[in-house]
Amino acid sequence: MNVRSPILVRHHRVVVIGSGIAGLTAALRVGDCAVVTKTSLGEGSSRWAQGGVAAAIAPNDAAAAHGADTLVAGRGLSDPVAVEAATTGGPAMIAWLRNLGADFDTDADGNLLLGREAGHSVHRIVHANGDATGAEIMRALRSAVLARADIALYEDTVAVDLVRRDDRVCGVLVLDIDRRPVVIGAECVVLATGGMGRLYAATTNPPEATGDGLAMALRAGAVIRDPELVQFHPTALDTDLDPRPLLTEALRGAGAHLLDSNGYRYMTDVHPDAELAPRDVVARANWRVLRSGPALLDLRHIADLAERFPTAVASARRAGLDPAREPLPITPAQHYHMGGVRTDGDGRTSLGGLYACGEVASTGLHGANRLASNSLLEGLVFGARVAAAIARDANTARSEGQVVMPRGALEVRDDDPAEMDALRRVMWDVAGLVRDEAGLRAGLATVASMAPALGRSLIGRNMIVVASAVLSGALEREESRGSHYRVDHPVIDPGEPRSTMLRWEPVDDVLTLDPSPMIARGHAV
Ligand code: FAD
Ligand code: SIN
Repeated sequence: MNVRSPILVRHHRVVVIGSGIAGLTAALRVGDCAVVTKTSLGEGSSRWAQGGVAAAIAPNDAAAAHGADTLVAGRGLSDPVAVEAATTGGPAMIAWLRNLGADFDTDADGNLLLGREAGHSVHRIVHANGDATGAEIMRALRSAVLARADIALYEDTVAVDLVRRDDRVCGVLVLDIDRRPVVIGAECVVLATGGMGRLYAATTNPPEATGDGLAMALRAGAVIRDPELVQFHPTALDTDLDPRPLLTEALRGAGAHLLDSNGYRYMTDVHPDAELAPRDVVARANWRVLRSGPALLDLRHIADLAERFPTAVASARRAGLDPAREPLPITPAQHYHMGGVRTDGDGRTSLGGLYACGEVASTGLHGANRLASNSLLEGLVFGARVAAAIARDANTARSEGQVVMPRGALEVRDDDPAEMDALRRVMWDVAGLVRDEAGLRAGLATVASMAPALGRSLIGRNMIVVASAVLSGALEREESRGSHYRVDHPVIDPGEPRSTMLRWEPVDDVLTLDPSPMIARGHAV
């Protein structure tokens, strides 16, 4: 199919792309908008979230303490302004969700039960149905959206590219449910398309997480920050299942141990916090153990396991394992993207009319390593902040310039699973937990050679763009910091922490896969 001549069929004040926690929060708070989502309302990573939402609610806790833990995890790359916004905004957003009907786990007196996860100095993880927090939050958000007459829904509708008028985003080109090209014009667009985990052979992410928003933003000329900062969860169940079932970090918060094939608890040698060391430290330790045998998560001594962690227990049983009787084989797996579309503290991107929130955004909250359960928090707080910013900004002030439609005729063909798998394997091998210059350079060349074939499918085209950005950023960052570990630069750069800023430079109106023009070194573009 050719999308050279789309027809304008709709106009909305605001278009929100994505219906996870960030998109639905933004939509509910902004009102009078449309939500475009590529599968069904509420699908995406949010629904799969297990451990919970971090919020400084306990009497022995404070936003400043939550902020301090977040800054430690971020290894110098978190923006203190974003950290303060998220940590002070958390309790009110939990109250908002409860008002919408989200039913979090409480004690007999109705007080929220709070879990503990790695990097948090106190118990502050709000959860629902044990380890099924995302499903409960999304149930509440989805039913709130369905009750709202001022929110139009476009399900099974894939956003392809942003439409600009001069430097301002003024709509989105989509393929509708019948795969017809349609432009939805808008005064502003909110990107809430989630992550890009499907770029990796081993990931906990659902099928929707193909980096579409990041690719669209890059092609439209927005600035991307730190694409190389990819988080690997230490404990996914080591099976052939794709995605890999997550074994929540809350299990380790409840006392689960990591064992090698001799039954030795190796994390006690690695870090004073053992299994509750920062996520990147535990993930790399597991990766090292796996090179000489299995790494195992022992849950046998956890009381009321099935009641407290029904999702984890069900995943193990589906794989034919009984966690009450045997330690579970685990592997690290791609889990989260800290990098993303650079925003200010209110979700504004570098392009007028374009806002971003949730995993697709780089708000500055997470730095080089996201603290557990800070992602749902970010989706809530920054979803709400985007809505408030849109209300404040003069989005009616439209430019008189020419509408710039997305470039290039696109022959949309179906994804080729074998080509996708090959790309995902390359990314896992060269841009996974351990990286080096030779591997990253070879990866860039391989990805470029895959582009002509993979780039002919809608999702493949996005994955190639995002893979190039991750590899370019990883090559550029000649240090090891948080989740980014370079064996050829194994220590943190002692100088001022710096972000990698990328912007796509189309050459002669052709989207080139040469990563070199994408890099703007050393300064904010
Ligand atoms: P998502 O929830 O992923 O939603 C993205 C939306 O965008 C989807 O609706 C998708 O269909 C849509 N979309 C994507 N591309 C397009 C397109 N081209 N056109 C139209 N629509 C599009 N974080 C925590 O804080 N706590 C946890 O306990 C936790 N557990 C997790 C467990 C798992 C298994 C996973 C995978 C992640 C977990 N995370 C957790 C991370 C967290 O869930 C995500 O980072 C967060 O939910 C992202 O929210 P989002 O709204 O940005 O994106
Ligand atoms: C988990 O439950 O381990 C995931 C938590 C997170 O990703 O924040």
